[in-house]
Amino acid sequence: MVLRRLASTAATSASKFSLAPTIKQLLERPPTADHVTTVSGWIKSIRKQKNVSFAVITDGSSAKGLQAVLLKGKDDEFLRKLTNGAAVRLTGQLVTSPGSGQSHELLVDQHGEVAILGECDSEAYPIQKKDLTPEYLREHVHLRARTAQIAAMVRVRDSLSRQIDKWFASQGFCYANTPIITGNDAEGAGEAFRLAQVDTQHPAAAPTGAPLPPSEFFSRPAFLTVSHQLHLEALATAISRVYTLSPCFRAERSLTGRHLAEFWMLEAEWAFPQNGVHGVCDLTEALLKDVVGGIIGSEDIDVLWKDGDDSRRQILLDAFSHKTPWTKMSYTDAIRELEVAGTSSQFEFTPTWGHSLQSEHEKWLAEKLVCGPVFVTDYPAPLKPFYMRANDDSHTVACFDLLVPHVGELVGGSVREERADVLEKKMGNLAGSEWYLDLRKYGGAPHAGFGMGFERLVSWISGVENIRECTPMPRWAGRMLL
Ligand code: 4AD
Ligand code: MG
Repeated sequence: MVLRRLASTAATSASKFSLAPTIKQLLERPPTADHVTTVSGWIKSIRKQKNVSFAVITDGSSAKGLQAVLLKGKDDEFLRKLTNGAAVRLTGQLVTSPGSGQSHELLVDQHGEVAILGECDSEAYPIQKKDLTPEYLREHVHLRARTAQIAAMVRVRDSLSRQIDKWFASQGFCYANTPIITGNDAEGAGEAFRLAQVDTQHPAAAPTGAPLPPSEFFSRPAFLTVSHQLHLEALATAISRVYTLSPCFRAERSLTGRHLAEFWMLEAEWAFPQNGVHGVCDLTEALLKDVVGGIIGSEDIDVLWKDGDDSRRQILLDAFSHKTPWTKMSYTDAIRELEVAGTSSQFEFTPTWGHSLQSEHEKWLAEKLVCGPVFVTDYPAPLKPFYMRANDDSHTVACFDLLVPHVGELVGGSVREERADVLEKKMGNLAGSEWYLDLRKYGGAPHAGFGMGFERLVSWISGVENIRECTPMPRWAGRMLL
């Protein structure tokens, strides 16, 4: 009896659930003309005339807003409150629009309703209609998603992650959750943030000067992860194919448009790879072409490219045309090309075998030599972390960096060193990493993987130069507003 009553309550509460259609949903499936339609959103612009006002309403569901035609039936005091930025609910009829540029508009006549849900002082509102600089919008990061560009970027991230999930599912990969708090610095670059417990005497105070707790919370130093790779490798030795799209943290001091202190990385690891490092490049290329190919012509990407350079955009479209495979070249060949170019180009750093490629070298390879994406493979071992598989020449490792125009390094990946003895020699005495060697000792299988900066991907496909505009609330050295 009790059970039956519980079941019927659950059924009732589920059936009560409802959300009004978004503007995107309304425009995709417009209701019949005599249907009463309610739209909620924010006023993006409003033009008031004697007997009628025209307002563009946006709810952020798509790049397009909806024009509402408000026939005058309200007093002036009420109309004065209909300002840019105000939150409103309008009830009227969705009708075919006589104007160009929109298929439908919302007609709110004397039978309709206009409700102001949140007023907005248009004089003080920081998001004015005039062009606002990225620097200004970073200062108003809590409100900047009200601009067309930032809203489009947020939706592009959403579309990308949905397509990525679809692609990996189609290839038999399992989406896995790996820890954010970790004891290792996967990249060994010393850029990890260390965690400290807040002083319990002064919980709200910044930890500066406060005495440290007597012991580490985890009985050992803890860090925010710089990469999920090592934990994914552990899962790949059991689940075979795994990936994650997760936050990573790096105490990067370089204040470039390509580095954030908190960024998202798409990382994949799979066991039993085929065709060595070229096979890893091929998988990365197929993923990018399939995922980005469906998004690159979207309305949101158009919004982001609005003021972009057309020839740059064409080069990008060519890269996703599926016609030609992306170029692969070894690090050694890349250095050779750079040496030749160095005689006539003004490189600040002389390209030399055994030294890292500088950002000017990476740019030249992608933008001038190849004019598109390029996989540079088989770097000298000392330039790369311990986990990359040693090549037979014993000088280089089976790895790649994918360099793309105007961004530089987008992806880094490799075949992983699965031979316990080789790995042990390379790792030396890395305390706390015995578990990583265990993975090789107990059924160690060949495996490979990569990591792709999610903000850099958004930057590349949208032409947005600085990755601070490719994530909703960016953090970098000296800056964390909310
Ligand atoms: O080249 P990275 O450091 O490689 C790794 O962390 C590997 N463990 C990944 C793996 O194989 N699973 O970082 C991978 C990518 C870079 O190519 C770049 O796109 C991005 O992550 N990245 C950053 N993006 C924004 N801000 C930063 N500070 C970044 N550092 C790296
Ligand atoms: Mg790298």
